[in-house]
Amino acid sequence: MADAMRALVIDEAGEGAELRVGEVPRPLRVSDEVLVRVIAAGVNPIDRKTKLGKGVAAAIPSFPAVLGNDFAGVVETVPYAAHPLQPGDRVYGMTRVPRGSGSYAEYVSVSSMSVAPMPVATGFVEAAAVPCAALTAWGAVVDVARAHDGQRMLIHAGAGGVGHFAVQLASYFGAHVTATGSSENAEFLASLGARRVIDYTSERFEEVAGEQDVVIDLIGNVVDETGTRSLRVLRRGGLVVNVPTRSWPTMAEEAEAAGVRATGYSVSPDARTLAVISRLIDDGSVRVHVDGEYPLDLGEAAHRRLGEGHVRGKLVLRVAPDPA
Ligand SMILES: NC(=O)c1ccc[n+]([C@@H]2O[C@H](COP(=O)([O-])OP(=O)(O)OC[C@H]3O[C@@H](n4cnc5c(N)ncnc54)[C@H](OP(=O)(O)O)[C@@H]3O)[C@@H](O)[C@H]2O)c1
Repeated sequence: MADAMRALVIDEAGEGAELRVGEVPRPLRVSDEVLVRVIAAGVNPIDRKTKLGKGVAAAIPSFPAVLGNDFAGVVETVPYAAHPLQPGDRVYGMTRVPRGSGSYAEYVSVSSMSVAPMPVATGFVEAAAVPCAALTAWGAVVDVARAHDGQRMLIHAGAGGVGHFAVQLASYFGAHVTATGSSENAEFLASLGARRVIDYTSERFEEVAGEQDVVIDLIGNVVDETGTRSLRVLRRGGLVVNVPTRSWPTMAEEAEAAGVRATGYSVSPDARTLAVISRLIDDGSVRVHVDGEYPLDLGEAAHRRLGEGHVRGKLVLRVAPDPA
């Protein structure tokens, strides 16, 4: 096995930073880690934020650094002979940049707790679109908001990476979902299970949504005071889950004054939940939407597109051809 691998790296984090293809050392598998040969890597807003000096950039120990949290690929080596995953298995999961090296690379070595068998029903590119976004959706909608029959849930940015899983999971667990999105996404959102779609470009959601038990806020106050306006649709004691970290610094005080509960959220790379999500994808309850596939050397173009803020579902980088 060679010591170097091809990866998409940044040489600095900040406004001018750009992704470039380079050679970096291949990660060495240690402890409970599984070494995975990456076939595809999902692109997430946190990758772009980090590249631009925000996100988790402050904790990057050295450059060049490899970004990317989502991967789908093939198991190369495992920690012990009777490990539930075996060489050759098709898996997906999350790395934890900057604690480990990223997935925009030919190999990742990740804790056994962060890698699960990928859905049988999807290819590698679709699978790579799932982990971070679907685990975030599950965490916010199921673990925190406890989606259930008849619960009224407003989901902002329902057509995006996290949103399209959040709408499906909330609907699956019986919630009555209202989603915000532009009119181009109205049909898409309805097909995911949204009972009602509010076009944020032509309507003020707080004027038309009616009373809600929960708001899953995937936008925050960085755009049009979306967080603050969300408080106006919640019943007394209702809950807002604000997912984009640091997008609404005054959330706690504002929520208290409004008589509602509010929380941030941070995703965990949880393989057990990912295994449940694989089942839901395989039985057709949840589907994955990939809006664009880019070769590794066009990673910067994928980031630019993501930065425009209107991706439907996910963008994915193709790292290697499908194995024979
Ligand atoms: N805390 C955590 O652990 C965690 C984990 C994952 C993600 N996040 C954060 O959560 C946020 C969402 O992530 P994502 O991957 O879902 O983003 P994304 O895929 O880039 O979201 C794109 C979607 O946002 C919609 N949109 C844009 N502006 C909108 C507005 N004003 N109102 C309603 N919808 C709007 C777009 O729909 P139209 O095209 O119809 O406009 C598009 O479909 C990001 O800030 C991300 O960093 C946090």
